[in-house]
Amino acid sequence: MPAPAYLSDTAPGSGARVAPRSWLRSDAPALSLDGTWRFRLSPTADLPEDVAGPALDDSGWDELAVPAHWVLQGDGEYGRPIYTNVQFPFPLDPPHVPDENPTGDYRRTFELPADWPEGARTVLRFDGVESLYRVWLNGAEVGIATGSRLAQEFDVTDLVRPGTNHVAVRVHQWSPASYLEDQDQWWLPGIFRDVTLVARPVDGLQDVWLRTGWAGGDGWVEPELTADDAAFPVTLRIPSLGVETVWTRPADVGRVEVGPVEPWTAETPRLYDATVESTGETVSLRLGFRTVEIRGDRFLVNGERVVFHGMNRHEAHPVRGRVFDEQHAREDLARMKRFNVNAIRTSHYPPHPRLLDLADELGFWVILECDLETHGFEKNGWTRNPSDDPAWRDAYLDRIERTVERDKNHPSIVMWSLGNESGTGANLAAMSAWVHARDSGRPVHYEGDYTGEYTDVYSRMYSTVPETEQIGTDGSTAPLLGCTPAQGARQRTKPFLLCEYAHAMGNGPGALDQYEALVDAHPRLHGGFVWEWRDHGILTRTADGTPFYAYGGDFGEVVHDGNFVMDGMILSDDTPTPGLYEFAAMASPVRFTFDDAVGVTVANRRHSAATDDLRFDWRVEHDGRIVARGVLAVPPIPAGSSARVELPAIAVAPDAETWLTVEAVLAAATSWAPEGHVVASAQADRSAQALGGAAPAAPRITGWRDAEGSLTLGSAAFERGRLVRLAGRAVSGPRLELFRAPTDNDEGSAFSDPTGSDGAVPGVSSASLWRAHGLDRLVHRLVAVQEAPGALRTLTRVSAADSALSLTVETVWALVGDELELRVEIEPSAGWPTVWPRIGVRFNLPDGGEPIPGAEWFGLGPRESYPDSIQAARLGRYTASVDELSVPYARPQETGHRSAVRELTVGGLALRAFPDGRGRLPGFVLTRHTPQQLAAAEHPHELPASQTTYLFLDAAQHGLGSRACGPDVWPEFSLRPEARTLRVRFGS
Ligand code: GAL
Repeated sequence: MPAPAYLSDTAPGSGARVAPRSWLRSDAPALSLDGTWRFRLSPTADLPEDVAGPALDDSGWDELAVPAHWVLQGDGEYGRPIYTNVQFPFPLDPPHVPDENPTGDYRRTFELPADWPEGARTVLRFDGVESLYRVWLNGAEVGIATGSRLAQEFDVTDLVRPGTNHVAVRVHQWSPASYLEDQDQWWLPGIFRDVTLVARPVDGLQDVWLRTGWAGGDGWVEPELTADDAAFPVTLRIPSLGVETVWTRPADVGRVEVGPVEPWTAETPRLYDATVESTGETVSLRLGFRTVEIRGDRFLVNGERVVFHGMNRHEAHPVRGRVFDEQHAREDLARMKRFNVNAIRTSHYPPHPRLLDLADELGFWVILECDLETHGFEKNGWTRNPSDDPAWRDAYLDRIERTVERDKNHPSIVMWSLGNESGTGANLAAMSAWVHARDSGRPVHYEGDYTGEYTDVYSRMYSTVPETEQIGTDGSTAPLLGCTPAQGARQRTKPFLLCEYAHAMGNGPGALDQYEALVDAHPRLHGGFVWEWRDHGILTRTADGTPFYAYGGDFGEVVHDGNFVMDGMILSDDTPTPGLYEFAAMASPVRFTFDDAVGVTVANRRHSAATDDLRFDWRVEHDGRIVARGVLAVPPIPAGSSARVELPAIAVAPDAETWLTVEAVLAAATSWAPEGHVVASAQADRSAQALGGAAPAAPRITGWRDAEGSLTLGSAAFERGRLVRLAGRAVSGPRLELFRAPTDNDEGSAFSDPTGSDGAVPGVSSASLWRAHGLDRLVHRLVAVQEAPGALRTLTRVSAADSALSLTVETVWALVGDELELRVEIEPSAGWPTVWPRIGVRFNLPDGGEPIPGAEWFGLGPRESYPDSIQAARLGRYTASVDELSVPYARPQETGHRSAVRELTVGGLALRAFPDGRGRLPGFVLTRHTPQQLAAAEHPHELPASQTTYLFLDAAQHGLGSRACGPDVWPEFSLRPEARTLRVRFGS
């Protein structure tokens, strides 16, 4: 039996579907049908319609929670999640889907409450079901709907009855709609948002839209009511503004001037409670007064330019998938606020409606995106792409209508987005036309409209720094992606935003500060949205019960995209990554510039809020130890302005580094952070001498002679030239290491800067070049060992199998007073062609009954930093355990590098590091695994048990870039082969 015809139908749905309307808080009766349903999963869609009948005996069926995704319930009993990015997990055969189509039948009964209003209409509402569902009430068919992340109401007035009612829902995982839902995420079927029976009272309010505006201090409401004449009179009340407006008939409904109000902004999310009362129903709303407009190439709210410091936010949870949890969502948004995130793009579909209430309340600029992506068609040159096929026009329009109608009351939403990565075509243009006709108060965004045929802002993803700069530069005629020069000129007349940039997969991204600098320099550029907020790992277990966060391929998918779904600024368990701290530093609302020794300029980079919520703390440290602190007197600085403030007199140490730190902190607790929370900080070097000026001269050693190399120098013991003990414990090294466990960006190959500025080889990842050149498998040959009184010197040649390229490493150990100096000279042979991941040396510290607990250091910290991701690092004294020094990225990779270290204590081993001849200090990594071990593991739990701690001293590390999906490391931060010196002194 072939699958039902509706599984080949491009229509958005059928039956008693009713027009979309706002998600409103109403006093009309509603009955939640969430809870336990009877459930039966079938592998195919060609099923009898027995599910409909109340009489069917379903006592043998399972029970399943609603809302939930069935693949995340049970232990694989109901199938497993599938992760794909662009690929479709079924044949590209639109609009058909395979017969192998997991189908979940859901059934339950409910009692209609005895006081259900007489004569009222009743709708059955589904807030989210993936992907196509067919509904029956009391055995009669109600209708079919699609649009997984869109709400749908069905009119069931004529089917619902007093007493016991029976509802049945058949959900197909795959449907024609799946072709429109090819977002980069897990495919998670099921009824995953609320199901509610809602009474629509006689004389009720079918829909309410309170559009607001603000200008020059005053606010207004432009109401639109959808109600029968009998619902009138209708009263609008805004108690805190003294507004009480009665409209006696529909024709009276009109603009209400509310006088002076505080405007709503993402920084000052002032909301006013309002009610709209008809004869049959009262709805409550929270109004924010703001006006969104585009003026020339500026995107303005309340007349001021908006800069998006945004995140792409998916609904993802390691246990619940896309099932909403308000507490968790609130914590998530509060976390964003703490990290200076001011904007959210709801990639790539409308979130649970409550999320937008939270965004209104906490304050975010929101780009609300429709549930639409057809990316898998790109592979075939967009042939048969639904976006340009009239057969899908209704489905496209239906989707955007349901998107806009549901959420139109939210002040946080400042733009509508048609969807993501769906090519281009007439159906997208039709969506845009519909939005323009419906909501003149918000512009339309869609990145795929490269040439700007039907959208209001110019949007791109992952454009490089030079390209982005060209977009922002007045008068530039540099070509723009997909545009003729004339189209490019049109795009440059619009505000620009990066709807995605800084791909946060694994360790990275680099270059956030470079993008930010462009936003400061070119007002047409309005910032952007990092891809993305969180890793989508799914908590699962290995066969032996070890828990881990799964990604693509971990559930045996036929096609999948591996760990490309682990590209968030927070890990699957909500842990913020160092990349998020870097973001917070880059996006800080306050900037400090130390003009000279006596003053600092404090710039308020906010949209509209002054700085009077902030306190400005300062402290002075001598070699990382606080010697003075206080509070700077900073007058309230209006948004967009700056003030020069006098600094306190600073006691400069004659023989220690002197640093001044200034911090802008919250003067009082907010709903998202405690008092004292740091929103911005900066440091200034006030040392008497330049770094390195105080470094002792290298010892001059004479009298070298060839030796066998077994000797003791202070606390160090050497056997045949090799270190075996140091500071009372077994230690070996230093051994040259050029390899780091490739980051996801090091493994990336897709992108390179079209201008060639980054030197990346198109289509070839850095990691593959490193492996080809054997950087992960260097072998060593001790060439010479020499001794002099109190000193030892070795020369080693380092190279890889089948390679003529080599390095020479000279180590010189020398007793200097009660310290032992080590100098390592690393000299590459001519001809190394690639960038290097690092230039460092490794010491092995076997546990020997006493594992290294961690590190204490004076240097940059507290978190890891790399050359192009170092804005969040501050000079100080830090302590961390070995575990705390590494970030458990979803796929093991390079982690833990602390830059510019001056002093380091590891177990009983204490060292001081000195700058090289060009003032560069080394970094360190302390870890339980070698780069080779990290690189071999796919998940953290696969790392082997370790009996050794490894200490790396890195003369240099390569930058991070974001080439997993974006530009490579900027040349300035690329590590090209070069000679380097490491110089440290161990306390003996
Ligand atoms: C973009 C896409 C996102 C995500 C990202 C890579 O092209 O819009 O959904 O796939 O790339 O992680």
